[in-house]
Amino acid sequence: MKALVVTTLDGPSALIPVEVDEPAADESTILVEVHAVGVSFPDLLLTQGLYQYKPKLPFVPGGEIAGIVLSAPDGSGFSPGDRVVGLTGVGGAMAEVVALQPEATFLLPGTISMPTGAALLFNYLTVHFALIRRAHLEKGESVLVQGAAGGIGTAAMTLAPCLGASRTIAVVSSEIKAEYVRNLGASDVLATENWRDEVLAITDGRGVDVVVDPVGGDRFTDNIRSLATGGRILVMGFTGRDIPSLKVNRLLLKNAAAVGVAWGSWWAEDPGRLSAQWSELFPLLETGELQIPEPTRYPFDAAPEALLDLEHRRTVGKSVLVLR
Ligand SMILES: NC(=O)c1ccc[n+]([C@@H]2O[C@H](COP(=O)([O-])OP(=O)(O)OC[C@H]3O[C@@H](n4cnc5c(N)ncnc54)[C@H](OP(=O)(O)O)[C@@H]3O)[C@@H](O)[C@H]2O)c1
Repeated sequence: MKALVVTTLDGPSALIPVEVDEPAADESTILVEVHAVGVSFPDLLLTQGLYQYKPKLPFVPGGEIAGIVLSAPDGSGFSPGDRVVGLTGVGGAMAEVVALQPEATFLLPGTISMPTGAALLFNYLTVHFALIRRAHLEKGESVLVQGAAGGIGTAAMTLAPCLGASRTIAVVSSEIKAEYVRNLGASDVLATENWRDEVLAITDGRGVDVVVDPVGGDRFTDNIRSLATGGRILVMGFTGRDIPSLKVNRLLLKNAAAVGVAWGSWWAEDPGRLSAQWSELFPLLETGELQIPEPTRYPFDAAPEALLDLEHRRTVGKSVLVLR
C-alpha cells in the first residue's frame, strides 16, 4: 500500500509517498481501508521535529481517518463494510490502510461524508474535553475563540453553542476567515489588529467567561485581560510559535484560571474515555444540532501543500486528504 512518510525533519516538502506493507490483521485491531485523513497543526510540527512527541524516523504522520472496515475481531462491535472514523494516535494515519484499536473507532452516521468524518474526531473531541472537562463551561457563558477559522477554532465555534454558550466571539486575521466564521454562526467577529479593545467594548467592559487559545504568543496576556471575573483561559496550543509567560497576579485579581488542555495524553491514559466522549457528541450529530463544516479537500499526494497552507495561515477551516 501507499503511505506518506517523513524521512527527514525538513518540513512538509520532505513528506514523500512510499510503498510499504499493509498492517497485518490481528485479534485486537480493526483494519480499515482509508477514504480520508484529517490534517492538523501537530502534523506540520511533526514534519519539522517541533512537536512535543518526537517519533523515530522514518514515520507516517496523521492522527485520524474515515474509511471502511476490512476486518474486525469478533466481539469488537464492528464488521467488514462498516463506515467508521478512528484515531491512530500521534502518527500513522496517512496511509491507504490503517489498524485501529476498537476503543478509538466509531461508526460514522450515514448522513456524514467520509471527508467530513475525517475532520471530526481530533478537533471536536479536543474541544469537547476542553470546554466540558477543563473549563466547566456553563449554560449562558460567553466564549472567545482565537484562530477561530482554524481546525480547533472551527470546532470551538460550532460546538460551544451546542454545549450551552450564549455568545461566541471569533478572532481572525483576514476578511475571508471573517466571512467563514460568520457563516459558522459567530455572534461577533473581531480582527487580530484590534480585538482586545473590541472584546471589552462589546461586553460592556465585563469580558468573557472562557477563552479558547490555540495561538499563544503575544495574544496571551491580552486574552487574560479579556477575561471576566471567574473566567478561564484554555491553553490549547502555540500556532503563534512563542510560548507565553504569565504574571499570575492577573489571575488572582479576577478569580480567573489558566487551564492546560492535553486531550491526547488524557485519552491515552484510558482509551475508554473516548467512547464516553463519543456518547455525548453522537446525539448532537445524529439530531443535526451539531453540523460539521465541509473541510477543505486535498488529494492524498498533496499533503505537503495542505501542511504548507497551515504553516502560512492560508487554510480556512479544517483540511483533509481524500484517497477515494
Ligand atoms: N491541546 C490539545 O489537546 C490539542 C489538540 C489538537 C490541537 N492542538 C493544538 O492546537 C493548535 C491549533 O491546531 P489547528 O489544527 O487548529 O491549527 P490551524 O487549523 O492551523 O489553526 C490555527 C490558527 O492559528 C492562527 N495563527 C496565528 N498565528 C499563526 C501562525 N504564526 N502560524 C499559523 N497559524 C497562526 C491562524 O488563525 P488567524 O490567521 O486567523 O490568526 C490559524 O487559523 C496547534 O498548536 C495544535 O498543536 C492542541
